[in-house]
Amino acid sequence: MASASNRPISREASHMHSDTASAPTPVVTASAAPVWDPQQYLRHAGHRTRPFLDLLTRIPELPTTPARIADLGCGPGNVTALLADRWPQARITGFDLSPEMLRRATQDHAGPTPGGGHLDFGHADLADWHPEESYDLIVSNAALQWVPNHPGSFAAWITALRPGGTFAFQIPGNFTAPSHRMLADLCDAPRWRDRLAGHGARYVHILEPAEYLARFTELGCAVDVWETTYHQLLAGPDPVLDWVKGTALRPVLTELGDDKEAVDRFLAEYREALRAAYPPGPRGTVFPFRRIFAVARKEA
Ligand SMILES: C[S@@+](CC[C@H](N)C(=O)[O-])C[C@H]1O[C@@H](n2cnc3c(N)ncnc32)[C@H](O)[C@@H]1O
Repeated sequence: MASASNRPISREASHMHSDTASAPTPVVTASAAPVWDPQQYLRHAGHRTRPFLDLLTRIPELPTTPARIADLGCGPGNVTALLADRWPQARITGFDLSPEMLRRATQDHAGPTPGGGHLDFGHADLADWHPEESYDLIVSNAALQWVPNHPGSFAAWITALRPGGTFAFQIPGNFTAPSHRMLADLCDAPRWRDRLAGHGARYVHILEPAEYLARFTELGCAVDVWETTYHQLLAGPDPVLDWVKGTALRPVLTELGDDKEAVDRFLAEYREALRAAYPPGPRGTVFPFRRIFAVARKEA
């Protein structure tokens, strides 16, 4: 059944919400949701998939077979498809706000899965996603940082789980890293402030691991929370810039839009700062990346 929170992919993306429960709260300008580029995002699919595989190993067996699974902020669907490897008969739905991501996910992964399950994708704004059915697993990889006040939805999402079901997510915890601090500083520099103030930091909506653990404990879940810093070795020239072009830079690139001169100027400034912070080594460029993981199991 379609609803306002569960719409077909052809509908326009809605606007980002700007309120947040977590501190620090950046100044956020009202603006359309970022335009995503699945091809650019998938250029680093190997490194981006690794934390999802690590998360999967900690998810316990699910209460029913075939399982019903939701992947929140599914992006181009490549990690959603990995869920079918672990639960071959499952009926899996990936939800996302970006029409570009949903098109790519549907094209590459929708349909029956080899184990007899099924994979599909639907439009949803996670800031306003109310599950309309019961799930065995609700999972989210590298998406909730874009959703202000996502901890405010935890109670409803846990309620939507079957007894013994699991809510599991991975969220980047690297917003004080040079890559992200320098982006925020550049957006707030006097020469860019009028167009970009707040855009470099607008997605900083995460809690610390201990805070996530407390939230799930309060909700009566058995909980497993941890963090890992991946020392990613990236290849090619300016690889950190290439990485953030797929994620953290999306709001800036969206805002500057077709103004090619401004895009080139902004990227040149940011590139120079990144080269100083992440100099290439003999075997590539090390780009450390902290990620936070949580697995919360509802009482059976
Ligand atoms: C960094 S990508 C992660 C994609 C995928 N989960 C993965 O691990 O490769 C973040 C995704 O979150 C989606 N997203 C951001 N804000 C969202 C929102 N409010 N509602 C639904 N999806 C959102 C973006 O469109 C994007 O596809």
